[in-house]
Amino acid sequence: MELAPTDYGGASPTAEGEHAHGVAISALDGPDGPPDVRFRLVAQARPVRLPSGHSVRALTFNGRLPGPELRVRAGELVEVTLVNRDVDEGVSIHWHGVDLPNAEDGVSGVTQDAVPPGGSYVYRFRINEPGTYWYHSHQHSAGEVERGLYGALVVTPPEPQYGVDVVALAHTIAARALLGASDREQRRHVATGTPVRLRLVNSADTVRRFALMGTDFRVVAIDARDKPGGRPLSGETIAVAAGGRYDLAFRMPGSPVRLAVRDEDVGLVFDPGHGVVPEAQFGPDFDPATYGAPAAAVPGRFDRRFAVDLGRRLGFFKGGMHFGWQWTINGKTFPRMPMYMLRRGETVEFSFTNHSHIAHPMHLHGHHMLVFARDGHRITPWWSDTLEVGEGDRYDVAVVADNPGVWMFHCHNLPHAADGLVTHVGYEGVSTPFRMGSDSGNEPE
Ligand code: C2O
Ligand code: CU
Repeated sequence: MELAPTDYGGASPTAEGEHAHGVAISALDGPDGPPDVRFRLVAQARPVRLPSGHSVRALTFNGRLPGPELRVRAGELVEVTLVNRDVDEGVSIHWHGVDLPNAEDGVSGVTQDAVPPGGSYVYRFRINEPGTYWYHSHQHSAGEVERGLYGALVVTPPEPQYGVDVVALAHTIAARALLGASDREQRRHVATGTPVRLRLVNSADTVRRFALMGTDFRVVAIDARDKPGGRPLSGETIAVAAGGRYDLAFRMPGSPVRLAVRDEDVGLVFDPGHGVVPEAQFGPDFDPATYGAPAAAVPGRFDRRFAVDLGRRLGFFKGGMHFGWQWTINGKTFPRMPMYMLRRGETVEFSFTNHSHIAHPMHLHGHHMLVFARDGHRITPWWSDTLEVGEGDRYDVAVVADNPGVWMFHCHNLPHAADGLVTHVGYEGVSTPFRMGSDSGNEPE
């Protein structure tokens, strides 16, 4: 594949960055030493029978759909061995939202080769920020994630503060909605007065809207970063971007609480043992831009500024075989989209605009983005790793360049990514020995 042109964001490339490709990303790996926790995830094709009785031809980790929920404590050294039993196209595991060393990022063709059937690969990392994350294959991800190669990853603080801490992972497989492992509404007993943390994760390709009925609640975290100081909410709909996470907190009242997913039959009822389950109602969308206290101070200046202008245009593609709409970034189609180039230690700005007539949940690997302006106006900043950029939206975000590597930067509507809405953020002086494309066997999207 030809090299993408480079965007230096208004700074000039250093001689070092241009010529010395000193650091290979395999040197940017996780910590050594004995792990505190070990997991083994075996990828395997397998039919799965859902609670409704319907069967799906899934790809599973450890035979389960979704893969096992991994829970670790902040700061622990985690070692995960991925084994591919029989997934012909190969697999990898990306730790979505974890700002880990580049070689552990799990992207085939960028940070590793896809693991073939019979092969294995070991990931090692420490996660210092408690929060809600998830993991998924980043080989043929548009197909493999949808078919089941994904799961939740929860990092708890040293002192757990919630009596009940539950993940609600929304997915769609073979056009059927799932919440966790079920395609039906589930019920769970929770004693009145229990503090509950509810972790919403969206592993589907488009936004999912959640309602929480029967209680006031607060949004306490977005994309694994605390959202401090939020007031109690009641009736607001929580829209979670594809790939995004929202953590809600409430104290269990004396009557049932219902979590509902808009337009889907799945849900979760928290039941104290008596009372009537409330009807699902979807109020106005919650707006993180006007909620709580600022998550961080907005930098006063930027070393580089980058435009990320999402569009589409008509043209021939796939070697001239197809004519249709193609995604563009700054007017360029894949693989001629800009590679955004950073230097370690800098603070940079990305400005997203979208006139492609459809929303794009933009995901940056290895970094969190401080979202600080919308439509040119300052907002209450929050941290995001997966930002829904709707048609006509403009968002400005700040990123601190503190994690050298070559990082994917793409739309998490994974079929859009497979259709080329993909670019990279690179660091001067860092190069990858891995290759994408048909002869390498690596197809990250
Ligand atoms: Cu969850 Cu590159 O993605
Ligand atoms: Cu998209």
